[in-house]
Amino acid sequence: MPRSTLIIRIAGDGGEGIISTGDFIAAACARSGLAVYTFKTFPAEIRGGYAMYQVRTANAALHNPGNTFDVFCALNSEAYDINREHLTPGTAVVYDDTFSPEIPEGVHAYPIAMTVASKQLGLKKAKNMVALGALSQLFDIPAEALKTVLADTFAAKGEDVVQANLAAFEKGAEQAEELHKTDTWKLPRASKSKQANDVIMLSGNEAIGLGALIAGLDFYSAYPITPASEIAKYLAVNLPKMGGTLIQAEDEIASISQAIGASFAGKKAMTATSGPGLSLMSEMLGFAFMSEAPVVVVNVQRGGPSTGLPTKHEQSDLFAAVYGSHGDAARIVLSVENVADCVSMSVDALNLAETYACPVILLSESSLAFSSQTIPTPDPAKIKVVERKRWDGKGEYHRYAMTEDFISPMADPGTPCALHIATGLEHNADGTPNYAAATHEAMNAKRFDKLKALPDAYRPVEIDGKAAEAADVGVIAWGSTIGVVREALTALRAEGIKVKGFYPKLISPMQVAQFEAFAETCKTVLVVEINHQGQLAQLIRAQTSIKPVSHAVCGGLPFTPAQIETRVRELL
Ligand code: COA
Repeated sequence: MPRSTLIIRIAGDGGEGIISTGDFIAAACARSGLAVYTFKTFPAEIRGGYAMYQVRTANAALHNPGNTFDVFCALNSEAYDINREHLTPGTAVVYDDTFSPEIPEGVHAYPIAMTVASKQLGLKKAKNMVALGALSQLFDIPAEALKTVLADTFAAKGEDVVQANLAAFEKGAEQAEELHKTDTWKLPRASKSKQANDVIMLSGNEAIGLGALIAGLDFYSAYPITPASEIAKYLAVNLPKMGGTLIQAEDEIASISQAIGASFAGKKAMTATSGPGLSLMSEMLGFAFMSEAPVVVVNVQRGGPSTGLPTKHEQSDLFAAVYGSHGDAARIVLSVENVADCVSMSVDALNLAETYACPVILLSESSLAFSSQTIPTPDPAKIKVVERKRWDGKGEYHRYAMTEDFISPMADPGTPCALHIATGLEHNADGTPNYAAATHEAMNAKRFDKLKALPDAYRPVEIDGKAAEAADVGVIAWGSTIGVVREALTALRAEGIKVKGFYPKLISPMQVAQFEAFAETCKTVLVVEINHQGQLAQLIRAQTSIKPVSHAVCGGLPFTPAQIETRVRELL
């Protein structure tokens, strides 16, 4: 029977073209109409160090990169050694024949002369393409699609580079054809109803850029930082085409300040950064809250604190996102589960900033930033875009007027009779600095009260399972961990175990009533997250009556479904 899924892992050193090889396989799978979910991890150095790319592909929707791999391709012996413990009977291994690994019992081994073939062609860098040709031949990955992506990607390097790499690809395919295939792994077939053009494949960072364009982004300013830089790369190409402006600022303080300035001028504004940059932005986040400026800060989390693990996965900026400021300052915090969310919640972030006239932090993660996933092609016509509440020109203008919903209409600079200042000093309704106790009390209350409606106004938290049914364990997850929990719970339910999932996307202000209603139906509530302190579990303890069990792990990698299953079983 044909298999419905295949997971291929390629590993080697940074500089050996692991990322390109994985990208080519992912693109060929997507072009074949298959669902794709990729995961890559690479060193902070430009050359050298362990680089790995995993492509999970299937003929049904995917929520995570998978437990382990079916096919492994090692470009050098170190990469093989790192992955040796994951080789189980049935796994297929393709490796460069310059080393002779000890192959475990039951593992299918395919040595390929990657280095030698590349050298014979007079090429320094093409052993990855020899490997790709072999993988294509052995596991039925469409060669024509791979060669097209290869030619398109390397076109900018010159026709000679393209031709040399195509020759390397053929060398690998020829060698593989000579080998006796002993395993049964091959690329699944796409289901007939799936049309390749119903879906697009893009990375989390590109998806955030796309969502922002759909939401009507006018202005973007950012300072480069891994793993957020590709948002700027995407918007640098596409924002000007939509009439918007992009600036590379001199640092993160400048970038958020410029975004707030653009917002004051009536424009939809955004910046993006990662942990260290978010720390630098904390003062201006307070200013945006105080001056009631709509602004979006995308924070693509990586391992911290400080420069930490700059290319690795972690969900450890939650406290910084929710509380990182001085004084009584709040902000809306959203977190994305997958690449589809990166589009739709980038729209949400800009919509909410404009609606509530305050800063919004959109939390993404390095694993999503670098992950390519197939998603249904977004239809901008079906996506609701919100504009800020603007002054109607009637009566006297007060920038911080007390209104029924505590949201004060804004007026763009230059609007007749609407001269005002936006200041970080405490102010009265017309924006004039005022330090009276009563003013500070009233204005603090106004700024917080306008957010009180949000937990009910935002879409309800998704419950995985039947809301009213009792469960032995209820799992709360956020960010990309949700996709891992989905698969773990499906497997546990198949065994008759009573489990439910709760997947908040609005992190702050918290949807407390929904958290508590969920917890009431569960004997034990488990919060799983990739950080050391159990940050969401702590927020839940602080803001709700729930006393969850925390399972917090921080190894620079996402959970696997099997790890979640194990932890749930321990609680039964
Ligand atoms: N023939 C010709 N060129 C090839 C090739 C081939 N067969 N295979 C790959 N290449 C090119 C790629 O096109 C790419 O070129 P580009 O730099 O012009 O885009 C380059 O070689 C690197 O290959 P790629 O596949 O993208 O990456 P890799 O697997 O070799 O790994 C990285 C390199 C990604 C690990 C490394 O370059 C990097 O960026 N590290 C992270 C740095 C970082 O962000 N640090 C954090 C700082 S805080």
